[in-house]
Amino acid sequence: MRVGSKSMLGAAAGIAVVWMVAVACVSAQAPKPAAPAAAAPAQVPGSNQLLAENVFKNVTVLRGIPVDEFMGTMGVFSAALGISCEDCHTASSNDWANYATDTSPRKMMARQMVVMMTTLNKQFFGGRQVVTCYSCHRGALRPRVTPSLVQLYASVSADELDVLLPPAPPGTPTPAQIIEKYTKAVGASAAKLRSYTVKGSYTGYGPEGFPRPFELYANAPNQKALIVRDNEAGDSTTIFSGTAGWVSAPFRPVAVLELHGAELDSARADAEMMFPVNVNLKALTNLRSSIDFINDRTVLAVQGNKGNALVTMYFDEETGLMTRLVRSTGSPVGRLPVQTDFSDFRDVAGVKLPFKWTTTWLDGRANYEATEIQANVTIPATRFARPAPAKPY
Ligand code: HEC
Ligand code: HEC
Repeated sequence: MRVGSKSMLGAAAGIAVVWMVAVACVSAQAPKPAAPAAAAPAQVPGSNQLLAENVFKNVTVLRGIPVDEFMGTMGVFSAALGISCEDCHTASSNDWANYATDTSPRKMMARQMVVMMTTLNKQFFGGRQVVTCYSCHRGALRPRVTPSLVQLYASVSADELDVLLPPAPPGTPTPAQIIEKYTKAVGASAAKLRSYTVKGSYTGYGPEGFPRPFELYANAPNQKALIVRDNEAGDSTTIFSGTAGWVSAPFRPVAVLELHGAELDSARADAEMMFPVNVNLKALTNLRSSIDFINDRTVLAVQGNKGNALVTMYFDEETGLMTRLVRSTGSPVGRLPVQTDFSDFRDVAGVKLPFKWTTTWLDGRANYEATEIQANVTIPATRFARPAPAKPY
């Protein structure tokens, strides 16, 4: 994506895919945070989940989905077509109202495409979501009409994993075997790890990819708080409390977004996987395994469901360690994947933990480098409480 922006840097963690997508685009030309257009958006009766049409002014086809999922669809559009938000929207600031009134031909075309895609899946594929924007566009504005002879004979890039695992070839180790090897690799002390804190440096993607400090707090079995510091725009905070999840960051239409449904399930999986002991046969339902390659290394993949989220763990065949975690949730126009790649594993209190990781989502990337990890420290419960709205300090 060609969107590099301040808030993309501020965008703290994978669970916030969609918001980051939003922010990435909008704030590119928005040096100062403005008050969100929708100050007190209406909510779905009987729940505190925000629907897209209640927050935004002119939603005609992607109705009836939560606002975070709606922003995810914008990420799918951008990624599938290889363009930025501004290529469809004429808005030049984070005045969200501008997004409602623009009438660019591309935006109109995109609306029709949603209808076409939905019809194709319904009429020809029994309602399964097998045709998405990406199926045809493959990162280009205009789908190719003629098979490329160059591509036909070019060496194929190794890393061509889809979010949905390929069928396992015969002889693939079972999920139980893969997880057992991981448990040995990570160290027996994993069972004794009850908390840890991480300090380090965060860099976003794009022209403003300069480093910022981050802090990460993890409390067993599944509490997680990630804070990326930014004194000019305000901190970006993502929290999973053990039951609830929030994203608080500057330049968002909803200042503190509470996660629901599949997004919450995905955040729960993310928080759980902070503790290697949670990587067990009960971590996910409907477990299956397959084999693939990441950067020319053989990986064994274990995929399963966490509520409505789909989670795939990739383990290096040789070391047994988890080198990639992909969480994805559904949307009307395709899945919204969030991928984290782990490296630089070091021993912390007898447990192998990654000191570097990169989180990639449809419209951005964030690199984290730990400088210090402290194990088994007491973390105050307030760390995992609902965060305050981001503000400069
Ligand atoms: C391929 C074109 C396309 C791209 C790229 C795109 N959008 Fe959209 N956007 C649309 C369409 C179409 C709608 C209206 C959807 C509907 O009516 O259901 C929309 C609606 C919106 C709205 C709701 C506006 C309102 O108040 O009604 C927001 C906000 C938005 N987009 C943000 C973004 C952001 C942020 C990005 C970049 C990550 C982005 N869009 C990328 C086509 C696009
Ligand atoms: C079945 C294949 C197919 C699918 C699925 C599909 N498109 Fe398209 N799309 C096309 C083709 C073909 C064109 C070029 C049409 C032309 O040249 O007149 C196009 C053109 C477009 C354009 C106009 C590009 C330009 O030149 O400005 C937009 C925007 C677009 N598609 C968005 C989407 C979005 C968003 C989705 C997913 C909701 C989607 N498309 C899904 C085939 C597809």
